[in-house]
Amino acid sequence: MSRLRGKTIVLTGSSSGIGAVAAQKMARAGARLCLVARNETQLREVQQSIQRAGGEAWIYPADLTVEDEAAACAEAILAEHARVDVLINNAARSIRRPIVEALDRLHDYQRTMQINYLGAVSLTLKLLPRMLAQGHGQVVNISTLSTQVPIPLFSAYLASKSALESFSRSLQAELGHQGIDVTVVHFPMVRTPMSSKTSIYKHMRMMDSDGAADWLIRAVEKRPARIASPLGNVGSVILAAVPGPATRFTQPLFRLMDWRLKNKLKKEGVE
Ligand SMILES: NC(=O)c1ccc[n+]([C@@H]2O[C@H](COP(=O)([O-])OP(=O)(O)OC[C@H]3O[C@@H](n4cnc5c(N)ncnc54)[C@H](OP(=O)(O)O)[C@@H]3O)[C@@H](O)[C@H]2O)c1
Repeated sequence: MSRLRGKTIVLTGSSSGIGAVAAQKMARAGARLCLVARNETQLREVQQSIQRAGGEAWIYPADLTVEDEAAACAEAILAEHARVDVLINNAARSIRRPIVEALDRLHDYQRTMQINYLGAVSLTLKLLPRMLAQGHGQVVNISTLSTQVPIPLFSAYLASKSALESFSRSLQAELGHQGIDVTVVHFPMVRTPMSSKTSIYKHMRMMDSDGAADWLIRAVEKRPARIASPLGNVGSVILAAVPGPATRFTQPLFRLMDWRLKNKLKKEGVE
C-alpha cells in the first residue's frame, strides 16, 4: 500500500505543469489533494480529472503573492480538513534575463521573491500550527538544479529559490524534533509551460512532468532532506569547495550550449 494513502497534501501550483501531473498521480496513490493556484478553471479541470479516476481533491484558487488571499486560502484549507500532512510549495515563476538587461528592472527580483519565496513562506507559516498540533507534518519546497550548479541568466529566479532553501534549513533545524520534516527538491529542466517560454530550450533534453511528479511522490514517501540529480549533488560539493573556479570554468560551457541551441532553431527558421 502506498504511503500516500489517506494523507492530506496541499499542493501549490497544481493548475499546470509538474503540479497538475503530480496532483493526479498522488490522488491515484490514495492521497487527498488540496489544489492551490490562481487559475480556477484549470484547477477545476485537474480536480475533475482526479474525481473521474475515483480520487479526492478540493480546489482553493488564490494568488499567493497577495497576503490576504494566501491567508484566506490557508483558513479555508484548515476549516475543511482536520489534518494537513504535507505542504508542497511548488508554485513559482521563472525569469530568464541577463543582469545587465535588468538594471532598471528591480521588479524582476521583487516578483520572483513574492511568489517563489514569500508565497511559499506565507502558506507554510499559516499551516505550520496545525502540523505542530498534530505532532507531525512535512514541508516540501521546490527548488532547482541551478542553485547547485552556477548557471547564468536566472539571477532573480535563483536568488528566490536560494532564499527558500535557506528557510527550509532553518525550519528543519528548529522544528525537526517536533515532527516536522522538510524536503528540498532540486528539479533539473522539466518540459512544462515554464520551460517552454524560452524558445531555445525546444531542443534541450529534459525530464518530463511525469518523471518530475515521481520525484515529488518519492519526497512524500521517503521524506529525505533533499532530492536531487547526481549532477546536482556533485555540483553542490564542487561549488562549496571551490566557488571561484566552479563558476568561472562552467560559463564558457553554458555559452556554447546556448549557441548550439540557437543554431538548431535558426536551421528551422525560428529566431
Ligand atoms: N520546468 C522546469 O524546467 C523547472 C526546473 C526546475 C525547477 N522547477 C520548479 O518546479 C516547480 C513547478 O514548475 P513548472 O515547470 O511546473 O511551472 P508551471 O507549469 O509554470 O507551473 C507553475 C504553477 O505555479 C502557479 N503559480 C504561479 N504564480 C502563482 C501565484 N502568484 N499564486 C498561486 N499560484 C501561482 C501557476 O498557476 P496559476 O498560473 O494558475 O496561478 C502554476 O500552476 C516550480 O517551483 C519551478 O520553479 C521547474
